[in-house]
Amino acid sequence: MLICQLTDLHVRPIGAAANRVSETNMLTERAFRVVAGFTPQPDVVVITGDLTECGLPAEYENLAAMLRRALTMPVYVIPGNHDQRDTLRIQLAHLPGVTRDPQFVQYAVEDQPVRLIMLDTLVPGANHGELSAAQLEWLDRTLAAQPSKPTLVAMHHPPFATGIPHMDRIALLTTEAFRSVIARHRQVERIICGHHHRAIVGQCAHAIVSISPSVAHQVELTFDPDDTGAFNFEPPAFQLHTWHDRNGFVSHTVYTDRYPGPFPFLTDPYYAGA
Ligand SMILES: [Fe+2]
Ligand SMILES: [Fe+2]
Repeated sequence: MLICQLTDLHVRPIGAAANRVSETNMLTERAFRVVAGFTPQPDVVVITGDLTECGLPAEYENLAAMLRRALTMPVYVIPGNHDQRDTLRIQLAHLPGVTRDPQFVQYAVEDQPVRLIMLDTLVPGANHGELSAAQLEWLDRTLAAQPSKPTLVAMHHPPFATGIPHMDRIALLTTEAFRSVIARHRQVERIICGHHHRAIVGQCAHAIVSISPSVAHQVELTFDPDDTGAFNFEPPAFQLHTWHDRNGFVSHTVYTDRYPGPFPFLTDPYYAGA
């Protein structure tokens, strides 16, 4: 199974840029084109939040139009801190699972070799993430229903400290309770997140946690506790999570910019002395 993870699109209304300088609409369309042209085609696309910059209806309309133009495989979304849950639920109601829960954008995808559990960590008006006791109970119950099927959990806010202080302050705050739920379900093989706009790998209980870079702008790497954070234009990227029954998950980072190449590896007998 091939799962394509796109994250932190921060789509704006047509003609507008994020933070006035990041052309997130163009960058999102470019990522979609790379996904659409990839061989083999991913079985599913998972978008792990910050679908839009401000949660405006015009931003979701723009995203929905971009998705319709570019991608033909199933697309599964969850909100991030930049989204507005109620607006997302109205504007993207046509996407599978979005309105399945009466309150949150949380659902399970059951018709693939790997089970996908989509979590909603959005706290309205805040940048950090949380899962309420009721949401953790839903997660526990949902995981318990399929204890032997390989499972991937998708969530916007990472459930571990990355060492980037200003981002760790707005990560998932209910980490201990979340970790104890995951620890009870060994079939959770991988957890994928966004939010930090960088490629970072960590752990939660037995599961590897992978944070994908953004398809738009990236967040500066800093370990300085006084740094309040900034973004840059390091290469935009997304991740492809492959899963095979004998090998489990392997995750690849795919850059959406074009670079010189490909060039052949030389094998002619004169190469060493040339
Ligand atoms: Fe983001
Ligand atoms: Fe975020």
